[in-house]
Amino acid sequence: MNALRKPEPKRVLVVDDDPSILAMTEDLLTDAGFEVGRASSGKEALERIGEREWDVVLSDLQMPGIDGLDLLAAVREHSPDTPVIIMTAFGTIQSAVDAMRAGALDFVTKPFRAGELLLSLERAFERRALEQENRVLRRAVARSSAFGELVGKSPSMNEIYALIRKIGASRSHVLITGESGTGKEVVARTIHFSGSRADKPFVPINCTAMPEGLLESELFGHVRGAFTGAHVNKKGLFEAAAGGTLFLDEIGDMPISLQGKLLRVLQDKEIRPVGGNQSIKVDVRIIAATHQDMNRAIAEGRFRQDLYYRLNVIPVRIPPLRERAEDIPVLAEAFLRKHADDERIHFSNAATRKLMQGSWPGNARELENCIERALALTDGNEIQASDILIPSDVGNETTDLKELLLRLAVERRMTVRELTDAYVETALEAAGGRKSEAARILGMNRRTLYRREERNEDDENEEEAAVA
Ligand SMILES: Nc1ncnc2c1ncn2[C@@H]1O[C@H](COP(=O)(O)OP(=O)(O)OP(=O)(O)O)[C@@H](O)[C@H]1O
Ligand SMILES: [Mg+2]
Repeated sequence: MNALRKPEPKRVLVVDDDPSILAMTEDLLTDAGFEVGRASSGKEALERIGEREWDVVLSDLQMPGIDGLDLLAAVREHSPDTPVIIMTAFGTIQSAVDAMRAGALDFVTKPFRAGELLLSLERAFERRALEQENRVLRRAVARSSAFGELVGKSPSMNEIYALIRKIGASRSHVLITGESGTGKEVVARTIHFSGSRADKPFVPINCTAMPEGLLESELFGHVRGAFTGAHVNKKGLFEAAAGGTLFLDEIGDMPISLQGKLLRVLQDKEIRPVGGNQSIKVDVRIIAATHQDMNRAIAEGRFRQDLYYRLNVIPVRIPPLRERAEDIPVLAEAFLRKHADDERIHFSNAATRKLMQGSWPGNARELENCIERALALTDGNEIQASDILIPSDVGNETTDLKELLLRLAVERRMTVRELTDAYVETALEAAGGRKSEAARILGMNRRTLYRREERNEDDENEEEAAVA
């Protein structure tokens, strides 16, 4: 392997039905160091194009059968990054202009000088390099930091974006799992609103929020007189979501008897309103979500395994934020933009570092709350590390408490004197009044402590004297 290996020669496909021009051009380009392919008709050119990639196609305009314009269209279609240069006889400038309009990069008029052609080719290679660079950039953007409402650029979020794209057209039920605050609801919404049924309803319901009987009639509806207070027929959410998505949030908390009814609905694809005796066909996709460990819920008999299998056709697991730290800055930025009135407000580098070091047991929701708090604390346009309080962070408990304490002291406008006095007093209390012990806690010389006390007593006496 030689690192100084010569770059690969550029490949040019020359197309002309005139054999003498073809031969002449080939000689010229070979001499200039290009790898040249030749085709003596549009049809042959199409074959060459199908065989391999070309850096540039140099084609005559007027040819019998497939002419230069047809070829141009085919190249644009087949390999849009490959520039096409048109060769045209003198006096047919208008058709050359037409070719440019159709996407040719340049044209040269025959007979052309070597320099003229080479210059045109050089521009074409530049253009091609640029196109390829753009394509790489576009792909980088597609592997992106956002999808609909969702932000995050970690591999696991990108997998979720890819999955959402893939299942957009499908009707299969989805089960989203993830710790509290990981974004289960946003993912559910994104699946619905980026899918092929986005124009149909998205109906969310939280299974924890209501007693069993009510949940049942909410889901399936009820007929008049089904129970006390049921004065009229009421449609359930299954019907409201017809053709769209029913989002069953916290499915792990659904009462077990209702789980059986739900299972039947999913199997039969029809519902029976509470108190009714007629079934109604329903066409609804279920997206369910839970923060619970479903295997455990099944093992403990709190969740039906058969329902789990029905729902878990497409599992989506959202990892906790601490497992995808690279999402923290992008999420933080998104939350900042969501809550800040002033677009100049930004995080200092130290603040971003601190955010990234957090363990975030409450995940994105906790991060969002933290950013809101930081915004309330910050004065200028730059959010400092000290504005970021992560109370949940057990790993950093002591530093955070200290910080919290000091911030409180600042907020209350405590003087250094007040603060140290209070600290000394607390240490004395903790030491049961033993001064040497208190001095040890305070990291203070015993004599210094005595002197402080004396001075304070003198001050108090003076104050009392002044008041008197
Ligand atoms: N990837 C993300 N991109 C943008 N916002 C997010 C993302 N993940 C979470 N959020 C935001 O964080 C908050 C919590 O998200 P969400 O309510 O979807 O979490 P959840 O998993 O349903 O939580 P819980 O289990 O507590 O119900 C919301 O404000 C949501 O918009
Ligand atoms: Mg939720």
